Amino acid sequence: MAQQPFQGVLLSADTIAQRVQELGAQISQDYAGRSPVVVCILTGAMMFFCDLVRCIDCPITIGTMSISSYGDATKSSGVATIDKDMDIAVQGRDVLIVEDIIDSGLTLSYLIDVFERRNAHSVKIVALLDKIERRKVEIEPDYRGFEVPNHFLVGYGLDFANRFRQLPYVAILHPDYAASHSPS
Ligand code: IMP
Ligand code: MG
Repeated sequence: MAQQPFQGVLLSADTIAQRVQELGAQISQDYAGRSPVVVCILTGAMMFFCDLVRCIDCPITIGTMSISSYGDATKSSGVATIDKDMDIAVQGRDVLIVEDIIDSGLTLSYLIDVFERRNAHSVKIVALLDKIERRKVEIEPDYRGFEVPNHFLVGYGLDFANRFRQLPYVAILHPDYAASHSPS
């Protein structure tokens, strides 16, 4: 029999939608009277980003950036690099980074440094998912959707080897599936 890809659904589409609305309301309140640059970290955060920005009611500028930190496997390479930079100047602007998941924290600590060196007025983070127990560097999101256990997660933008991003929910990838489908 073919290996089942998932161990189960961790967060349903409804649960995610409810939390995204709450985050959007909180962000709208905190940024009232301001006009932040809201940055989508591609590709993983795209679903979350699209849903979140539609729940933010202050004027925003949208930017996208692509960062490599994981490659295709389930282990962090420990290094982050910018694959595609943003074409919006952030000097003197409030920057809100939208990320799918924080694991070691290396990607976000690298990005915060990038925006601080570009003289952003403020840099904040909203992360849908947070694997707090995996942290290697001290970093706390300003807005957190859900604290999640240490499993490899897919769906709602998150991938394994570029698959499963289109799922409307977040599922736990079966470790046997990961082992037998891991790109070498
Ligand atoms: P960090 O730099 O170790 O915090 O890794 C963050 C990045 O790793 C995220 O933006 C994701 O792209 C990826 N990542 C971490 N955990 C998972 C997971 O469980 N599923 C899919 N991608 C993940
Ligand atoms: Mg990512």
